[in-house]
Amino acid sequence: MGLRLTGDETAVWAAAARVLDANWTGTATVPSPGLYPHQWSWDSSFVSLGLARHRPDRARIELLSVFRGQWETGLVPHIVFSSSVSRSAYFPGPEFWRSRAQPGAPRGVETSGLSQPPLQALAALRLAQGPGEHGPFLARLYPQLAAQHAYLSRERDVAGLGLVSLCHPWESGLENSPAWDRPLEAVEPLISPYARGGGVDRADADRHVSLVRSMREAGYRSEYLRDDHPFVVEDPLFNAVFLASTHALAEVASLAGADPAPHREEAQRIHEALLERLWDRETCCFRARDVRTGQLIPAATISGFAPLLDPDLPPAIVGGLAELLLSARFAGATGYPVPTCDVQSAAFDRGAYWRGPTWVNTNWLVWLGALTHRLDAVSDLLLGSTLRLVRQSGFRECFDPFDGTGRGSHDYSWSAALVLDLLASRRCT
Ligand code: GLC
Repeated sequence: MGLRLTGDETAVWAAAARVLDANWTGTATVPSPGLYPHQWSWDSSFVSLGLARHRPDRARIELLSVFRGQWETGLVPHIVFSSSVSRSAYFPGPEFWRSRAQPGAPRGVETSGLSQPPLQALAALRLAQGPGEHGPFLARLYPQLAAQHAYLSRERDVAGLGLVSLCHPWESGLENSPAWDRPLEAVEPLISPYARGGGVDRADADRHVSLVRSMREAGYRSEYLRDDHPFVVEDPLFNAVFLASTHALAEVASLAGADPAPHREEAQRIHEALLERLWDRETCCFRARDVRTGQLIPAATISGFAPLLDPDLPPAIVGGLAELLLSARFAGATGYPVPTCDVQSAAFDRGAYWRGPTWVNTNWLVWLGALTHRLDAVSDLLLGSTLRLVRQSGFRECFDPFDGTGRGSHDYSWSAALVLDLLASRRCT
């Protein structure tokens, strides 16, 4: 692998590589055996970051395969269903989403009708920066990435002020985050067989399903989202990832022989809107905004640190975020940082999925943001504590932030993949 790792890190590397090998289906990687038997969009990007360090040929296949599900609008759906898995293996499955009935959905593969944080361009660029010949891969991928980004800015900027709006908590990737509690109150639940083990409240799960039914009945049209849909929020994590990926897309455009300028201009617009719409001067953190009420949502969550991915974030804001992150509300209070919710808030729950537990993917995003701003204390802390978590508890879905106990599914692909990327980052240290 060409890296200088310690004996113990070599064992962690081998264990992570085994997880990715076992979860590989031949064309893509499932998030975990059993619980998540299809391809999820942002999981797939995280996985490709790890595969780039382990099997770059598969990393390219992984990234391209998610675009099999791309709609004519440019939407990259958050789930691409596998036809070799029983139709009832996951709820809501293809029968619920009914993508086949949508004229703009792809033929030959069934999908959901929502997005997830658009990490693909960032993942593609990091892959292209590794060894090997990437020209044909980038030439094929670039138009698909450009269409994905154009869809998000054209059809999903519901407020018309430069940020993407989420129309479902699942689009955030952090589905039971306390940030969604208030906007969900406006949604009528729909009793369904969907029940999550990880701590998603029953009534909220029914609201999640109800939102999908409303979107499906409206043909997933952006006019419906803009005018009638009850759940419309601007999220710092989604938009920070969109911004980082838009910067990456400009680089990919150059490498693919296309014009990077429109992507640079778009990045500037997102940067300005992120500060204007989601930075809360009073409390010194980024918060989600409920577009329907116009209000910032009070919850302080891990999502608020994702804007560290913005290379142009003003130094005073970077400093404020680092201080909050290291404080007794987040990393400073826990042995296994970073908890996904402010530990001092009433909504914090150490065992409930995105309401407290530590996740490898959010640690990785904050780690990358810390590297972007040379916050060495933060990036070193996150690298060390993430490795400590998987050494102690394996590649679990998430972890108790106080004692590091693993929670959720085992052999979770992005936990393994991102550990490979973290270890590889230690090259020549
Ligand atoms: C859970 C996570 C989501 C992820 C999916 C598949 O629903 O909340 O972010 O994409 O699992 O791993």
